Amino acid sequence: MTPAGKGGVPVWDLPIRLFHWLLVADLAGLWWTAAHDNLALHFKLGYAALALLLFRLFWGVMGSDQARFARFLKGPAAVLSHLRHMASPGPLPPQRGHNALGGWAVVVLLLVLLAQVGTGLFAVDDDGMEEGPLAHRVGASAAKLARRLHHANFSLIQIVVAVHVAAVLFYLVVKRENLVRPMVTGWKRLTFLPGEGEAGVGHGWVPLWRAGLLAAVAAGLVAGLVVFA
Ligand code: HEM
Ligand code: HEM
Repeated sequence: MTPAGKGGVPVWDLPIRLFHWLLVADLAGLWWTAAHDNLALHFKLGYAALALLLFRLFWGVMGSDQARFARFLKGPAAVLSHLRHMASPGPLPPQRGHNALGGWAVVVLLLVLLAQVGTGLFAVDDDGMEEGPLAHRVGASAAKLARRLHHANFSLIQIVVAVHVAAVLFYLVVKRENLVRPMVTGWKRLTFLPGEGEAGVGHGWVPLWRAGLLAAVAAGLVAGLVVFA
């Protein structure tokens, strides 16, 4: 059976979906632990965030078709054309994977999150009792600066995530396109006929063992950083 024959086309493989929803849960935990001054757990969740982000970078190069940066990062002409489609009434052209604007939104999300982890690793807390594993490698003033940047960047993260969720709602309400279901089930309802259009090219998902291997490498790198910091 072609993918379209199942009533949809496969879009997000399991590793991307796990990455996404684990990241959302992890961020909630990071916010909660910071707000309740549980820095021991905050650090652990921070390491998990770093492992997730490293995995996503690997998957963007060696992962499934739709996950690859080279596939969804397009030039300004494609972004402008997508913006024009967004501004005009009616549904968007069928899209399997990130659209030209969403692709760059992924880059922004990954960068602000990496910046948060990066500053956290060097930050010292306000009373100087707790510090990230790399804080001892820089002077006290640099660690304090890292802390200030960690605070400021979290405000930026809140704005970027709010825009992200607002964009998903915009597609749902205005464009009548449900992006959330594919991020949960992996499949998207598109009107391609079997054997036609993009649906005919197969799902492009690579075997799960590769994701397992890359996740283990990401976790190993983070463990190495913590142990040898
Ligand atoms: C802490 C909050 C969140 C963060 C950091 C976040 C981050 C991300 C990232 C990095 C991606 C890109 C996926 C990839 O290619 O790896 C993404 C995609 C997506 N996210 Fe989120 N997300 C958050 C919350 C949410 C929520 C609450 C929803 C549901 C309402 C949501 C729905 C989606 C959807 C539908 C996509 C796929 C968009 C598309 O089809 O191009 N996200 N998100
Ligand atoms: C994406 C990952 C992360 C997020 C979203 C995050 C978020 C936060 C937030 C919201 C705060 C409180 C800021 C405030 O009081 O205004 C905080 C504090 C802190 N974070 Fe993170 N964090 C992350 C990763 C890390 C990592 C990896 C480390 C170090 C291993 C770290 C170390 C710290 C430290 C030391 C503080 C204490 C600052 C203080 O007491 O003022 N964070 N973090």
